[in-house]
Amino acid sequence: MNDQPAIKEGYLAFYGDKAGNSGGQGGKTMCGIVGIVGHSRVTPLILTTLKRLEYRGYDSAGVATIEHGELARRRAEGKLINLERRLKEEPLDGTIGIGHTRWATHGVPNETNAHPHFSDGVAIVHNGIIENFAELRDELVRDGYAFSSQTDTEVVAHLVARELARGLKPVEAAHQALKRLEGAFALAIMFKGDEDLIVGARNGPPLAVGHGDGEMFLGSDAIALAPFTNSITYLEDGDWAVVRRDSVAIFDIDGNKVERKRQQSLSTSFMVDKGNRRHFMEKEIHEQPEVISHTLAHYVDFVSGVSKPLDLPFDFARIGRLAISACGTAYLAGLIGKYWFERYARLPVDIDVASEFRYREMPLSANDAAFFISQSGETADTLASLRYCRKAGMKIGAVVNVRESTMARESDVVLPTLAGPEIGVASTKAFTCQLSVLASLAVRAGVARGVISREQEKTLVRALSEAPRYANQVLKLEEQIERIARELSRYKDVLYLGRDTNFPLAMEGALKLKEISYIHAEGYAAGELKHGPIALIDENMPVIVIAPHDRIFEKTVSNMQEVAARGGKIILITDAKGAAQVSVKTMETIILPDVPEIISPIIYALPIQMLAYFAAVFMGTDVDQPRNLAKSVTVE
Ligand code: F6R
Repeated sequence: MNDQPAIKEGYLAFYGDKAGNSGGQGGKTMCGIVGIVGHSRVTPLILTTLKRLEYRGYDSAGVATIEHGELARRRAEGKLINLERRLKEEPLDGTIGIGHTRWATHGVPNETNAHPHFSDGVAIVHNGIIENFAELRDELVRDGYAFSSQTDTEVVAHLVARELARGLKPVEAAHQALKRLEGAFALAIMFKGDEDLIVGARNGPPLAVGHGDGEMFLGSDAIALAPFTNSITYLEDGDWAVVRRDSVAIFDIDGNKVERKRQQSLSTSFMVDKGNRRHFMEKEIHEQPEVISHTLAHYVDFVSGVSKPLDLPFDFARIGRLAISACGTAYLAGLIGKYWFERYARLPVDIDVASEFRYREMPLSANDAAFFISQSGETADTLASLRYCRKAGMKIGAVVNVRESTMARESDVVLPTLAGPEIGVASTKAFTCQLSVLASLAVRAGVARGVISREQEKTLVRALSEAPRYANQVLKLEEQIERIARELSRYKDVLYLGRDTNFPLAMEGALKLKEISYIHAEGYAAGELKHGPIALIDENMPVIVIAPHDRIFEKTVSNMQEVAARGGKIILITDAKGAAQVSVKTMETIILPDVPEIISPIIYALPIQMLAYFAAVFMGTDVDQPRNLAKSVTVE
C-alpha cells in the first residue's frame, strides 16, 4: 500500500501554494468590505485591499470618500478593473473611505445596486443579509425615505440617517440602527462631517480591525489588510467598533465597552490564514453562517421567495430519475439530497458511493440526469463516475466548490457551492453548502414537477433564508459541546443514531469523529439498532442520538429506551420540544433552536462537527491534517 496521501491537485488549484502564489481562481464567494481612516489619498489603498478581497465576489465594486466635506462615490458593475478605470477617469480625493466588492444576494448586479449606499449624510458598505429588511423598508417608506436600489443594505443607510435626523450624534445613531437589524452582516459606516470616524459592526460574517501608524483599517479579512498592517483585532459576533485615525473602541450591542485581543496576522506570507482560530477546521466551522447564506443566495431569491431559474441542460419535469454519486462527506450530503428530492419533488434518486457506482453496472438512461458532488472537483472515483454517465449520454451537473476543477469542466452545468477555500481536511463548510445547494434544487425541482405550489415554495425559501441565523445560534453552544467532547474523548467507541435525514447525518457525525479524533464510531439508522448493533451497547459506548422533535421523534425515543435499558449512555441532540418530551434519562442533552424541517440537516450538522473538532483537540491529534488522509483524493 502506498503510504503517501494522494496528491492534492484540487487544493493547489484553489488555494495556490504556501508561498502565497494563487492557483486557479477559486470561485466567487461573498462580498468583501473595507474602511480606511488614513492620512493620505485613500482610494489607491482601498483598491489594493479590494484586489485582495475580489475572491469574495466580483459582481460590482465601489468606493466612497469624503471629498471637500461631501460624501462622494464611484461605483462600477462587474470586476474591480471597471472601478479602477472609472477612478482614472474621475478620481476621488479624501483621506477617509470605504470600499466594497459585491457578490449579489438582493438585487441584480448593476451599478445602482452596487455599494456604497448613501442616505442623507451616511455612506455604508455591507456583507451579508439583513433578514428583516422588508419590514424595515416598509417602515422607512412610511417615514418618507425613498429607495434607489433593490438591496437590503439601503435600509441600514436610511435607518442610520433617520437616527441622525432625530438629533443623535453619528456613533449613537449607528448604535441605535444596529439594534434594529436581524440577520448576518458585517458593515462599515461613514458620516459626512466627520473625517475621523468609521463605525464597523459584525454579526456573523467576519470583520477585522487593522492597526496602522496614524491610520486605521477595517476589512473582511486580514489578507485584505496585509499590505498595510499585520496588527489585527478580530471583532466577535455582536461587536461594533468606533474606528478613528488614532484609536479603536469596541462595544457590545448593549453599548458596553469590550476588550478584544490585538494579534499579529501571518497574512502576508499566507494568502489564507486561520484568523484568530487555532485550526482551519475551527475557522471553517465558524464561517458556516456566512457561506451558507451566500450559497443559498445563488439558488434562491430571498426577496421574492422563489428558487432562481437555473440554466440546466435538462428539465426536472421531464426526467424519470436522478442519479447522484460522490465520496465520503459529499456522498452523505447526496444521501440527504435523496430524501429532499424524493420528498419535495417526488423525483426518484439513485445514490451510490462513487467507487461502487462505476462498477455495479446499473442501467442508465440518456433521458435522465446525474449529479456529482465534490468539494475539490477532482476526486478520482467521482470523476470516473461522471465520465461513465457522460458516456451513457446522461446530462451532468457538478456540485463543486472549486470552479475550475476537472469535474466542473467536464459537466454540462456547474452547480457551485460558495464555501470559499476549505483547508481543513475534514469537510465542514463544504458539506453544509452542498446541503444548501441540494435543498434549493429540490425546491426548484418540486416546483417544476408541479409537486410544490408557489405558496409552498415561498414558505420553503423563507425557511432556507433562516438557516444562517440558526447556524449562528448553534455556534454559541460551543462551551457545552466542548465539555461533552472532553467526555467523549475518553471512550474508544461511539455510536451515532438518527432517522430520516438524521440517518445520513449520524453517518457524517461518525465519519467526522473517526477521521480527526481517531475514535472508532458508527452511524446507524436508529431503527436498525435492534438488528445487530444493540449487542454492542454497554456503559463503555456512548450513543449520540440526533432527534429533532419531528414526525418520527417518538420512534427514535423508543430506540433510546432500548439503549438506556442496556446501560448505554445517551447524548441527545434535539430541540426544546424534544427535550421536554423525552422520557429517557440522558447523559447530556444539546438543545438546538426549533428549526423548519428543510433546514434541519444543515443546522444539526454543526454540533456533530463541533463534537468531532473538540474531541480531536482533547485527543491531541493533527486536526487539520489527520493521519493518512488528503484533502483531495486523486487516485482510485
Ligand atoms: C471527510 C472528507 C472526505 C471527502 C471526500 C470527498 O471529512 O472530507 O470524506 O468528503 O474525500 O472529497 P471531495 O468532496 O473533494 O470529492
